[in-house]
Amino acid sequence: MKSKPKIILTYPIQDEMIARELKPHANVLIAKSPSQLQALLKNADGLITLLSNRVDEALLSHAPRLRVVGNFAVGYDNIDLRACKTRGVRVVNTPKVLSRATAELTLALLLAAARRIPEGEELCRSGKFIGWAPKMLLGLELKGRNAVLVGKGRIGLETARLFRALGITVEWITRRDRETTIRAKMKRAQILSFHTSLNPSTRHWLDSKRMKFLPQDAILLNTSRGPVIDEQALIRALKSGKIFAAGLDVYEREPKIPAALRNLDNVVLLPHLGSATRETRAAMAKLVIQGVLGILSGKRPWNEVDLGRRLEVS
Ligand code: DGY
Repeated sequence: MKSKPKIILTYPIQDEMIARELKPHANVLIAKSPSQLQALLKNADGLITLLSNRVDEALLSHAPRLRVVGNFAVGYDNIDLRACKTRGVRVVNTPKVLSRATAELTLALLLAAARRIPEGEELCRSGKFIGWAPKMLLGLELKGRNAVLVGKGRIGLETARLFRALGITVEWITRRDRETTIRAKMKRAQILSFHTSLNPSTRHWLDSKRMKFLPQDAILLNTSRGPVIDEQALIRALKSGKIFAAGLDVYEREPKIPAALRNLDNVVLLPHLGSATRETRAAMAKLVIQGVLGILSGKRPWNEVDLGRRLEVS
């Protein structure tokens, strides 16, 4: 009888799926520390990682038998694809199943930023709400505003559907746009929302130069990856009032959030919750497990990452 493959997890991603979908087909071990991970990788066939785990040559060098890395995320900027390719390690991720959850969270950030919900909530919690006032915490109405979405992948498309339901018009910035087109669209971006992967072409995509093209009182949203925005430039724009408010789920040096950002009232901060619904996390676990097991049994799962892919705004 063929022995079961050995699969290491850096975190117990979802107990039910591990028990139901993974354990019947594999010997499963959870690494409790980086040094234990290195030791366990010695004879591992598969590895399931989080977006906060760096998978690079240094780690792969401990895993001579490794055939597949399953990333419990759609984004895989934590994985050195070239190092994987060189070592013949294949990669799977969790596309599609988290698009709706991430789009819903983007919408939540938009509403919270436009209507100053955290400020209102803080007023109530602190006991400082002393009665209705005509000029208290005035926000922006969303109907009729124009949103520019950077990245036309599944999450961007799902977000556009939700925005349109509120009467927001939607334009896209994609990898095909030249700088002049980007600038023209930025000028119309009353709402600018990021739905792109992080790669060399998108790192600091929004810098102080491009930020200048935003109209006064724009709302900025990021549920993709923190480094697509120059955080210091954003802090300056929020402080100067050029940007009305920002809704952020991700940060440049996650999980670090600069004090200058935390101290601002016109920013809504969330701890990377894009895909954090019960339904989505279960679906992500199932998909990543199926992908890893699929590769180990000689298949080509649909969620396999193309290791030769050109990495740009999608
Ligand atoms: C992803 O899957 O890349 C998300 O950021 C996780 O929430």
